[in-house]
Amino acid sequence: MKQPLTAVPSARLSGRARVPGDKSISHRALILGALATGHTRVAGLLEAADVMATANAVAALGAEVRRANGAVEIMGQGVGGLRAPTSALDFGNSGTGSRLMLGVVAGHDIEAEFTGDASLCRRPMGRVLMPLTAMGLRAEGERETLPLTVRGTSDLLPIVYDLPVPSAQVKSAILLAGMHAPGRTTIVEPLPARDHTERMLGHFGAELTAEDRDDGARVVTICGDAELHGADITVPGDPSSAAFMIAAALICPGSDIVVEGVLLNPTRTGFIETLCEMGANIEQLDHRLQGGEPVGDLRVTTSTLKGVRVPPERAPSMIDEYPVLACVAAYAEGETRMEGLAELKVKESDRLAATAAGLAACGVEARLEADDLIVQGRGQVKGGGHVATHMDHRIAMAFLTLGLGAREAVAVDDVSMIATSFPDFTKLMSKLGAEFR
Ligand code: S3P
Repeated sequence: MKQPLTAVPSARLSGRARVPGDKSISHRALILGALATGHTRVAGLLEAADVMATANAVAALGAEVRRANGAVEIMGQGVGGLRAPTSALDFGNSGTGSRLMLGVVAGHDIEAEFTGDASLCRRPMGRVLMPLTAMGLRAEGERETLPLTVRGTSDLLPIVYDLPVPSAQVKSAILLAGMHAPGRTTIVEPLPARDHTERMLGHFGAELTAEDRDDGARVVTICGDAELHGADITVPGDPSSAAFMIAAALICPGSDIVVEGVLLNPTRTGFIETLCEMGANIEQLDHRLQGGEPVGDLRVTTSTLKGVRVPPERAPSMIDEYPVLACVAAYAEGETRMEGLAELKVKESDRLAATAAGLAACGVEARLEADDLIVQGRGQVKGGGHVATHMDHRIAMAFLTLGLGAREAVAVDDVSMIATSFPDFTKLMSKLGAEFR
């Protein structure tokens, strides 16, 4: 059942808010916790549908996951110690959960069926199956989409793999498999994507190196037959969720907000960097390290913005923020050109097409030129549109945000998928002064 929602033009957002835990780090904490020996305690885990699917998957493979004293504890089974599930692993809407867990199952002598919702079953899995089958995973049939039955092995081979696309999910799947293989597994990333797997593997005691090459590539190597030891993790606030609050404060007149405890890992800050180039007033307060990740509070006030060019090399550091950036760009003066966005076509929806169509529905001039999205900002937005979200949480949240600053209310057709990443989105935005009906 679709759940429509309308964002009502809202002046003056104010106050302080804390966004829920980072989704990428939450998935990884559950997975590495399951592969470690002993207890892992995770504070601030994102309790959203995507992450719960990963929790269910690691539990189905034999790791005990339980709530304890406001945190989540995982009793790990050691690297290579998971058992075959008795039913299909259902990853719901989550590309991250399913791809990372393919890497985990690859290193175990077990069979598992992977499945998910209609959106996930359309997304490409060949990008992880290719390197994992080179290492020894067997996939039933020729399919490159879920549902898929795979068989892992306790005799994986290490590989050297040049990533054809900059993808943290593919890199992470290979690293997780590489942990189970003897010798060194090396991944060459054309552009560095988010590095949470590497940081967390180090935190759990794995041996790993990362080196930046002169041509901009990064070479990551993991030593196989790794041993992981249970660890404590505090998950920082998700910058991809904070993005909607930041965007709303920039475009709603008279706003002044502070978003607390936001992850500021440089592989995730492309959105903030771009907004600052556009003239956004974003102040970083109390910059600190939390469990090996940089974190800070962000003060954001309404800003006069100008259009900019966003180069393709920045895409990995803000890949999930393009829909909301495009919405902010509509409020800037002049053209914003976002280049090299081919990867957006294979997200929870074809985000390139969905964003362009949503902008058009709201009276914003935007066009696609191959893999580039060009938005003509006019300083203000008419709104009044009905936006199709295509089972995509970030399209829903981006266009609700756009509606808060528009002259006329903006309706989205379905907000149910917001539960996959940010279940309290409307509650937290409303607390800052946003209006929805
Ligand atoms: C993620 C990596 C990115 C991102 C996704 C989360 C991760 O996907 O879009 O939301 O946690 O590794 P790709 O690896 O496909 O770029």
